[in-house]
Amino acid sequence: MRTPVIAGNWKLFKTIAEATAMVNELKPLVAGTVGVEIVVAPVFTALSRVAEAMAGSNIRLAAQDCYWEEEGAFTGEVAPKLLVDAGCSHVIIGHSERRQYFGETDETVNKKAKAAIAAGLSAIVCVGETLDERESGKTFAVIEAQLKGSVADFSANMLAQAIIAYEPVWAIGTGKTASEAQAQEVHAFIRSLVAKLFGQASAEAIRILYGGSVKPDNIKGLMSQPDIDGALVGGASLKADSFAAIINFQSN
Ligand code: PGA
Repeated sequence: MRTPVIAGNWKLFKTIAEATAMVNELKPLVAGTVGVEIVVAPVFTALSRVAEAMAGSNIRLAAQDCYWEEEGAFTGEVAPKLLVDAGCSHVIIGHSERRQYFGETDETVNKKAKAAIAAGLSAIVCVGETLDERESGKTFAVIEAQLKGSVADFSANMLAQAIIAYEPVWAIGTGKTASEAQAQEVHAFIRSLVAKLFGQASAEAIRILYGGSVKPDNIKGLMSQPDIDGALVGGASLKADSFAAIINFQSN
């Protein structure tokens, strides 16, 4: 059985005070939640203070990006081991906004994911097609190329420390969720690709999250699909009540 992951990507929102207040509000709402890996990803500057606020709780901490070198003359970058130092257990890599606005490529995603895993982090590796790509029938080809590039040179052991997030770009922040069937179709494709690349055991173990306008009212349907193992949530993760409702999808 794969433990579901519900991860909140706070993007460029929330000051330290707002992020810690949100965690303090979320804690009692999810204190009784078992069998779900709960993750929040604040901005870099809030990480260590959020780590203090969540200490002893069942909420885990992610960064939204990292660099692949451990240290050196790389102004502005943050190394995976510094994320561990700040209290992170997870890191999001290759989010479509980074691919779209910051020149992230499959090659840089691959370097970052390898470095993150080597530092002991769980790497949440994002893939997803644009609307144009979907409408021209290229979804599977795009996902295959992104995934192969992102996990190039991985061993099965490294892959065991990765989580894949399928986030159709056209569904992010648009209010347009992929239908359960559309998401399931791509998730099943990703799992079959992992089977081809790493074998059946890896394919059965890897968690594949859906992301793109996940809300309290669509999470249950998405989670009922056999290959959807959780969600990467943007907008609806910014408020404690809606994020808790998503995390507690089993009891709602
Ligand atoms: P959204 O964002 O839930 O606001 O669509 C998802 C994401 O970008 O991870």
